Amino acid sequence: MTTVPRILIVVASTRTTRFADVPLRWLLERTRHRTDFEFEVLDLRDHPMPFYDLPLSPAMSPRNYTTAEERRIGPILDAADGFLLITNEYNHGYSAALKNLLDHFFVEFNRKPVAFLGYGSVGASRAIEQLRQVTSELEMVSVRPSVHLLGLQMIAIRQDPAAAVDIFASLEPRLDVLLTDLHWWSSALIAARAANADSDAA
Ligand SMILES: Cc1cc2nc3c(=O)[nH]c(=O)nc-3n(C[C@H](O)[C@H](O)[C@H](O)COP(=O)(O)O)c2cc1C
Repeated sequence: MTTVPRILIVVASTRTTRFADVPLRWLLERTRHRTDFEFEVLDLRDHPMPFYDLPLSPAMSPRNYTTAEERRIGPILDAADGFLLITNEYNHGYSAALKNLLDHFFVEFNRKPVAFLGYGSVGASRAIEQLRQVTSELEMVSVRPSVHLLGLQMIAIRQDPAAAVDIFASLEPRLDVLLTDLHWWSSALIAARAANADSDAA
């Protein structure tokens, strides 16, 4: 079976003046020529969700969507074979908007890989470690290599946007390793989910 993994790039920051667009632009530029993946972007700023108010946990009540937002986003998550989260860091954690997204769904995430591109004083490392813990409860596999844009690099880019070229060039090898692992896991789990579906049907 040859299937090109569909990766959903999720942008976690919803701020009007956010920095997130800088790493997003780089990621899209670095990935647009790849033929071994299909990429789509889910920008949480474009998909505001109400704060969690579901009558039942999504784990107990799969795809029982009660809001227009869930009905819109659920199929997008379902169609993904893996996720690449672009995350900021607020008070050593990840954004409330991202947690709200994760809490609204369950089976849509199950048995799929998740990888991280973080930015912040220490590259959002603390937010990413929290996300590894939370996504494991969603039965996701977190990909070991992550990409970290450091606070000093963010400052340099803010002062001189042209500095982004060299800074992001230094991150390319790490992104390539991340994508190699993300491809391995998403391909392996596409096959495993398909085999599981066959055995369920038998
Ligand atoms: C409430 C708040 C808390 C923050 N806490 C952290 C933090 O714990 N670690 C960090 O690296 N940056 C922290 N920052 C700085 C962010 O990294 C910085 O604002 C970044 O631009 C946020 O991403 P965004 O602009 O895409 O929303 C914080 C910013 C705010 C507004």
